[in-house]
Amino acid sequence: MMVSAIVINNLSFSFDDGQELFRQLSLQVNRGEWLSLVGRNGSGKSTLMRLILGLETPSSGTIKVAARLGAVFQNPEDQFIGATVEDELAFGLENQQIKPELMPNKIKETLQEIGMSDYAKSSPDQLSGGQKQRVAIGSALILNADVLFFDEATSMLDPLARESIINLIGKLHKQNPNLTIINITHDPDEILWGQRAVVLEKGKIIADEPAKVLMSDIDFLHHHQLGETFVSKLVSKINQKRSLNRKIPSSIISQKELLSWLLNSNK
Ligand SMILES: Nc1ncnc2c1ncn2[C@@H]1O[C@H](COP(=O)(O)OP(=O)(O)OP(=O)(O)O)[C@@H](O)[C@H]1O
Ligand SMILES: [Mg+2]
Repeated sequence: MMVSAIVINNLSFSFDDGQELFRQLSLQVNRGEWLSLVGRNGSGKSTLMRLILGLETPSSGTIKVAARLGAVFQNPEDQFIGATVEDELAFGLENQQIKPELMPNKIKETLQEIGMSDYAKSSPDQLSGGQKQRVAIGSALILNADVLFFDEATSMLDPLARESIINLIGKLHKQNPNLTIINITHDPDEILWGQRAVVLEKGKIIADEPAKVLMSDIDFLHHHQLGETFVSKLVSKINQKRSLNRKIPSSIISQKELLSWLLNSNK
């Protein structure tokens, strides 16, 4: 049976200046799901997340959250208060009234989980962007968050750091089948890490589909000015040059699929 992590019913929201963003929006997120929340700049992704986190108040409607929430934002700088990485993680525990003698072990475990064991005594300011995002993820994990929000958390990172963060999220999600991931991203390849993709446009949900289905619907992506994966663009470029009987199936949109198709078909 599907258990809901988040249930949004008929949510309406306007800013203080009267500008309406959401009208009667409903959305249900299942526990354990990895959902990518996508849409062009200004479509309302961050505001929806802030509403779910309780940082904004709906004008009407309800948001039910059957889980502890954690969030990782785009700019790693803004998220830290601790003098060291260790302190930063300890803050999460202090708010949970965990016995002090259990804290060092829990911190050690979390550092291992995020691959930051060597940085316990480092100042968060001195870490690289990717390391900072790891610590931000650690802070959410140590709170026992069962829903992790990411708001363009990899967009400031170099390609390798980006890959290592998305791999870390993938590992955590695999380890814990009840962990729900809501990832706000503009990166077409990142969307494919999730099972489900919800597209916002001007505060409305215009698509809610399996990620693979959305990212294969090239006409829809073009029409709504959303990005295609690199492989999907490459496949259409190659197909333009190929005769009908030699076309690569347009359902191939990821590196993995292209690779296995090329290796199997010997074309
Ligand atoms: N405090 C505010 N007052 C009025 N309008 C606002 C306020 N904050 C955001 N908006 C508007 O609300 C809309 C949605 O903004 P939001 O930041 O949620 O979009 P987004 O989908 O996260 O965009 P991006 O991809 O650029 O991060 C935008 O049109 C924005 O200008
Ligand atoms: Mg945003």
